[in-house]
Amino acid sequence: MATLSTPKFSTSRNEIAGQSVAALAKEYGTPLYVYDINVVSQRIADLSQFDVVRYAQKACGNIAILDRMRRRGVVVDAVSCGEIHRALAAGYSAEGHEIVYTADIFDAAALDLVVEHNLHVNCGSPDMISQLGQRRPGAEVTLRINPGFGHGHSQKTNTGGEQSKHGIWHSQIDDCLRRADQFGVTVTGLHMHIGSGTDLEHLSEVCEAMERVAGEVGRTITTISAGGGLPVPYNESETYVDLDKYFQLWDATRNRLSESFGHPITLEIEPGRYLSAESGFLIAEVRSVKKVGGNLFVLLDAGFNDLARPVMYGAHHPISVCSSDGHAVDDRELVQAVVGGPLCESGDIFTQREGGYVDSRSLPACRVGDYVILENAGAYGFVMASNYNSKTRAAEVMIEDGQAKLIRKRETFADLIRGEVIPD
Ligand code: LLP
Repeated sequence: MATLSTPKFSTSRNEIAGQSVAALAKEYGTPLYVYDINVVSQRIADLSQFDVVRYAQKACGNIAILDRMRRRGVVVDAVSCGEIHRALAAGYSAEGHEIVYTADIFDAAALDLVVEHNLHVNCGSPDMISQLGQRRPGAEVTLRINPGFGHGHSQKTNTGGEQSKHGIWHSQIDDCLRRADQFGVTVTGLHMHIGSGTDLEHLSEVCEAMERVAGEVGRTITTISAGGGLPVPYNESETYVDLDKYFQLWDATRNRLSESFGHPITLEIEPGRYLSAESGFLIAEVRSVKKVGGNLFVLLDAGFNDLARPVMYGAHHPISVCSSDGHAVDDRELVQAVVGGPLCESGDIFTQREGGYVDSRSLPACRVGDYVILENAGAYGFVMASNYNSKTRAAEVMIEDGQAKLIRKRETFADLIRGEVIPD
């Protein structure tokens, strides 16, 4: 496929996948997550060269989204018991590696569930090999390798190198193979996910490292996984990765291994963000527009309890505005505005840089009652939402075949205190 060009982000938007922003907000309330399922389908299609597309469901795990992924031939990884249950609830089978448990530890419940369903495991620590081996001698496993270096859009999303807790350190393969032998465990897969926001220069080093480690493990290997990390542009200075080149590098690695082992090697990719980020929009309502010294603050009914990426990583999300009656606002004057939320915390700002520095954004002048749309919010958006300040979590809606469909109800006050107990 040709490399996708970075989209133009407009600061005025009155529809999402043909549905009126104002109508969606009126019907389902705000804050509201909206996913355009067509975008997910397109992104899946972009990756058709890979043998297996394994969705990192941590990016957006609503079971309706997982179901639609499944119907399009995408399998999943699960990083916790909860994610295994989600995948099963979405119709994934425990058979045939449809669900792979990928983590650096087993908690007791996860180990039980993995053993009960006989799930394939991608081990991120030598201890996992022994713990699984004791419970399921003769298992086949994948090893997640930390090649000694990594890459990320933020230090917090870099998953390789000495500072990362993820994966098995590249010089400990021998120890792992000894542990595996002890329990008759066979290493059939290798996996490297070195961080979110991969670029091509980095990738050839990752491929070399994969080949080196595969050579050490030997011919029991039948699958290699390129991990996730495919970037999506969050602003106009960012680009997509050249997927053809990306595939070619991995394909060449796979072919060399296949030739040297004398059997076919399956090539997996494990994206989260790439499949869901651009499908998702967070619609919020403007509740106050106020001057604070030289700054103009536009305060929304959504905060970092709904979308945590800006406060956590200084992440940039495109922002657009729609009038309360559903009209585009491209005729309004552009002003510099700081966009924030309702939480009792100064960091509750969507327009901030890493380090917590408040920035402003050039936006159409906002009025109370307008809608503000935080875009590219479909990955690590709702899934990182919290009940901080006792806020209920937003509803989620999917747009499919020109129809809006509720896929998660807005939380209620009863949900908020469920499980809490006042002892006598
Ligand atoms: N595979 C493994 C083993 C991972 O740990 C991850 C992400 C992925 C795949 C998917 O990575 P992606 O394709 O989505 O970049 N909350 C952060 C991202 C954390 C990523 C954690 N692991 C953010 O909002 O940017």
